[in-house]
Parts: sequence; C-alpha cells; structure tokens
Amino acid sequence: MRFGTELMRQADVLAQFSEDAPRLTRTYLSAEHKQAGEHLIGLMRNAGMTAGFDALGNIVGRYAAADPDAAMVMTGSHQDSVRNAGKYDGLFGIITAIACVKDLHERGKRLPYTLEIVGFGDEEGVRFGATLIGSKAMVGSFDPAWLETKDAQGITLRQALTDFGGDPDAWDTVDRRGQRVLAYVESHIEQGPVLLNAGLPVGVVTAIAGCSRLRVQVTGLAGHAGTVPMGARQDALTAAAEMVLFVERHCEATSGLVGTVGKIAALPGAINVIPQEVEFTLDVRSGDDTVRSEALRVIQAAFDDIARRRKVTALATTLFSSNAAPCDARLQAGFAEAIAAHGIAVRHLPSGAGHDAMVFPTVAPTAMLFIRCGNNGISHHPDETMSAEDAEVGTSVLLHFFEHFDPVVFARGE
Ligand code: GLV
Ligand code: MN
Ligand code: MN
Repeated sequence: MRFGTELMRQADVLAQFSEDAPRLTRTYLSAEHKQAGEHLIGLMRNAGMTAGFDALGNIVGRYAAADPDAAMVMTGSHQDSVRNAGKYDGLFGIITAIACVKDLHERGKRLPYTLEIVGFGDEEGVRFGATLIGSKAMVGSFDPAWLETKDAQGITLRQALTDFGGDPDAWDTVDRRGQRVLAYVESHIEQGPVLLNAGLPVGVVTAIAGCSRLRVQVTGLAGHAGTVPMGARQDALTAAAEMVLFVERHCEATSGLVGTVGKIAALPGAINVIPQEVEFTLDVRSGDDTVRSEALRVIQAAFDDIARRRKVTALATTLFSSNAAPCDARLQAGFAEAIAAHGIAVRHLPSGAGHDAMVFPTVAPTAMLFIRCGNNGISHHPDETMSAEDAEVGTSVLLHFFEHFDPVVFARGE
C-alpha cells in the first residue's frame, strides 16, 4: 500500500500524545499539543515543506509553488480532540495531506499553487469553550475578548498561549484574508454511518450544518436537604433537569434539528444540600439556519417559563454560533471527478458534524472529502475506526484532486 499502512501507523503514534493515556485527550495549548505539533512539523519538513507553529499554536506547513507569486490552496484539519477521543477525527485531515505532499516531493513535482497544510490548534472548543479558535483567526473572526477566557483551572487563553510559546498579541498575524487563498479543502473521517451503509470508501460533502453553543447558568437557593419542605424549594438542579428534557423533546419533535446537553455541574455539590447553582452546556445544530434560530427562540422561552415556575433564574450565554456552510459546487465537482477516476461511485452527503471548513467560505470557496468511518460510524469515542484501505483510497483521491486543480482556470471562475 502506498499510503494507508503508514497513515495508520502515524495515527497510532500521534494518539500517544495524550493528556490521559491510554485514553486520547489532547486539548488546545496542552503540553501534548506541543509534542504532537512538533511531531507533525517533523513530518511536514520530511515531506519537503517549510513548517512551524504560528502565534496561536496552529501548525502550518507550506509546499511552495515554483512561482513565488502563485496563489494558495489551503488544506488540513484540527490537531485537538474531545475527551476520550478516536484517533482519526481531525488528525487524519492533517496526515493525509502531508502524505500527498511527500509523494509529490519524492517525485520532484511542484504544484502550480502553494499548498498550505494547517493543523488547527483548536476546533473542538473543549478547553476554553470558544470553538474553532485557529480557523476563525485565519478568516478574521478572532474575538480578542477570548484571550481573557479561562479554562477549568483558571488559566486564561492569554496565559496558555504565552506558556505554549505563542504570542497572544499577535493573533491578527494569522489572518489569511488578502493572501490570495483560492480554495480551502479538508479531508475528514465521516463520523457517521452513511458511507459505511452505502459500501463506499469516500464521499463528497455538500454542506456543513450550522451550530449554536450556549452556557446556561441556573441559580436557585441552597438549603438543608432534610428541613426544607418539597414545595418550598428553589432547586437549581431539578429546574435544569426539566430544561434538559425540554431540549430533548423539542429536538425529537423537529425534523432536521439535534440538541445535546454534554456537560452539567451542580454546586455546592453535597449529598445533603439543595443545589443552588447549576451550569450546563447546550449544543444545537441544523442544516437549516431558520430551523436552528427558531429552536433557540423556543428553547429560551421554555427555559424562562421553567425558571419562573420553579423560582430560579436561568441565564443563557452564547459561546459559539456558526451558520450552515454550503460547499463550493466546482470544488465538489473536482472531488467527484477524482473519486470517479478511481472507479468509485460518487456519493454526496451533508455533514452534521462541525469542521474547520465551516468558517472558510467567507475567505475562499470551500469543500470537504469524507472518508468512511467503520464500527457503525461511531466517533467522538475511542472505538472510532478507519481502515488502512480507506485511508489509502482517501489519500489517493485527495492527491488526484491536488494534481488536477488548475488555479488559473479556477480563478477565472470556470
Ligand atoms: C466537532 O467535532 C463538532 O462537530 O462538535
Ligand atoms: Mn470532533
Ligand atoms: Mn473533527
């Protein structure tokens, strides 16, 4: 196999850079982010690229075109993971692109455009709540207020960047606007069962679902578990429980809408004290932005109603919001042609998961290639799998795309 076996080996090596081995957890600006980044920078240099970290801890490799004035194509994905993650989410999009460049380099072939591969520092938003920090900064959507947000240990993003060796005040240097980026393309494990059920190793993404993420703080009144009568309580946790179940009911009843409460904490957190403070997260997604915004309106109204009835307060703060992102038709056609050239039926499918690609359409036409996810399509879970055969096909298709992308024709809009 040209690529597949080696990519599986690299994914295994990179999975060892984990904060809680043998599980895989690698959050933004952790020591393991640094180690994985250094490893990836080594792979990039070995593939004939110039490479290093940028001011925000993104891992950036460039395979320069012979013409220094040539336009740029960007690719890559995220280096960070969720807690107890799979090995391929994000990471595969970086190593598959490096494998393509290594192959070009070994054949002495330059492309008629500069290819930049980015291992984005943060996509998952696990550590600081803000999500897609690296890619948002590259499209000019970095919010400097994020620098003062704190992780669970009270460390600000500013401090974490400094400790990492980055430069928090140079966040604007990573902005790619005005740099003649012709296209952004990303390869990613599907994280669902569509390709698996269709018996296909790869597919072309049509659009990425929009997403809103909120933090909800419910405040009641603490009291003695043995003395406060049931009818006289202002229990923040039972109020939150009703809110969580409302989200589930509403999303179940609305087509094309999904909602998840992934994290919840109650304080003071004692067996014999009525909970006073509850904080939970809410993640709401839809391929249709109007469905998502209407859902947020209905959920907010329900939370207000539950809070009033239960004599608590509920304050929802938006942490992240991104509209549904359509993929560019011509780039989709480029991936379709590359898949067909491998004798594989072309399947188009939407992405329910979020990706770095979702913020790029404001800067450049964007597209994604999905690789089949084994094991019933499970992801954000250690049982996430990809076969070496599918990694092989996916990389070969991506390489075909890179070698057939004509920057002059594309820039003319043909
Ligand atoms: C990213 O993995 C997301 O969709 O939450
Ligand atoms: Mn993910
Ligand atoms: Mn991902």
